[in-house]
Amino acid sequence: MHRFETVPLGSHETAVTVPSPVKLAIFASGAGSNAEAIIHYSYRIDAAFRVELVVSNNSRCGAVERACMFDISTAHISSYTHPDPEAYTRALLDVLREHQIDMVALAGFMKKIPAAVIDAFSPRGRSRIFNIHPSLLPKFGGQGMYGMAVHRAVLAASEKETGCTVHEVDSEYDTGTVIAQRRIPVHPHDTPEQLAQRVVEHEHELYPHVLQQQARAIQHGLL
Ligand code: GRF
Repeated sequence: MHRFETVPLGSHETAVTVPSPVKLAIFASGAGSNAEAIIHYSYRIDAAFRVELVVSNNSRCGAVERACMFDISTAHISSYTHPDPEAYTRALLDVLREHQIDMVALAGFMKKIPAAVIDAFSPRGRSRIFNIHPSLLPKFGGQGMYGMAVHRAVLAASEKETGCTVHEVDSEYDTGTVIAQRRIPVHPHDTPEQLAQRVVEHEHELYPHVLQQQARAIQHGLL
């Protein structure tokens, strides 16, 4: 059951009860441009989620720097801090529980999510953990398909269009149920870098929008 909070409106008006924002954790390993787009969105008056925590396996990455700029809590959890896989899983579960996290967004996170974490975030059989991938999945997904490798492969295959995909996370790479896709043209003389730039700009619009929809579904008991 999602939490509700009562907002007083002023001395002569009745208080209203609104669903409290869904508490989101972002998992990121890299530059963090998607993390920042999600954080920006969360400051909208109508945002249904609040970014409570950024988890990273790389304490020096851009995503952690950006979280600190916004005064958002961060946690460094990796196979370096937790070499034992069970301890690693437990550390993730503990920090998510400590911050009462309802939903997780992977944004350039380079590690697989342990099955126990996926189970803990699938209260109604559907995952509340999401990922964004810079291609039209199932094309150009899977192990090794990340960063510039995706865009090089798209160009090598002479694709006329590419895109980005938001999907539910399961315990494999890029195989969970697709929730939303944005189609993006490939131009004749695109370099992998130009394509990457075009795709990531669309990611910054698509991902927060999908998270907003999912957060609303959680607030209404639908997810
Ligand atoms: C994005 O292209 C996203 O699709 C992929 O990793 C990249 C992360 O970029 N999963 P950034 O760290 O958000 O800038």
